[in-house]
Amino acid sequence: MTPLHVDNLGKHYGDTPVFANVHFTVAPGEFVAIVGDSGVGKSTLLNCLAGLDTWDSGGITHGSTDLGQLDDTQRALWRRAHVGFVFQAFHVLPHLDVAQNVALPLMLLGQNDATRVQRMLDAVGLTDLGARLPQQLSGGQLQRVAIARALVHRPALLLADEPTGNLDPTTAARVMDLLLAQTREHGASLVLVTHSDAAAARADRVLRLTAGGIAG
Ligand SMILES: Nc1ncnc2c1ncn2[C@@H]1O[C@H](COP(=O)(O)OP(=O)(O)OP(=O)(O)O)[C@@H](O)[C@H]1O
Ligand SMILES: [Mg+2]
Repeated sequence: MTPLHVDNLGKHYGDTPVFANVHFTVAPGEFVAIVGDSGVGKSTLLNCLAGLDTWDSGGITHGSTDLGQLDDTQRALWRRAHVGFVFQAFHVLPHLDVAQNVALPLMLLGQNDATRVQRMLDAVGLTDLGARLPQQLSGGQLQRVAIARALVHRPALLLADEPTGNLDPTTAARVMDLLLAQTREHGASLVLVTHSDAAAARADRVLRLTAGGIAG
């Protein structure tokens, strides 16, 4: 599998710096938690790691892929093949049912596999809800759809923004088990932004993002 290297990354909006000197590596099979105050730039950093946002200095490499060297199309294809992303605000597609939302990464890769989709729904406790539309789900159920969708294509790089924020402790622990299974058993690199002490306690390393950079 593939290590992730973040090398002195910096970003600002106009004159306002968001973060600077962000420097860390995530090995295959490793789980790194990122914590920090609200507004410090955690979601922005995760979007940069996914190639969904741009930065102003430094660089990001995933194995031999230098994200800064890819054009938009190349970055979209890289993301499709290698990244599973759980967004802070779910980003579930409202006009697709639950099973179709989970199947989306496989469809984009031309690997539709209904059995794997159903197994993912089972794994997140949504066995019988595949035909429901997102508007018919609770917040915690929506979050689990987002988790299943991020894992279904077994990505090498797993990026999760507060993935247990809407879940009760038992369901949260189960979701963490799933993210960690992909990390430990398949050698993915997991970067997880969280305010949850329970989630951070399971990380190999906890990095704190501040305006000045990142501290381990
Ligand atoms: N398009 C934008 N233009 C200007 N500033 C922005 C823009 N998007 C985000 N910001 C600012 O960048 C900073 C980082 O935002 P970000 O969403 O990454 O924070 P966060 O650490 O994820 O916070 P939270 O814990 O509340 O989710 C915030 O201060 C935000 O106001
Ligand atoms: Mg955020």
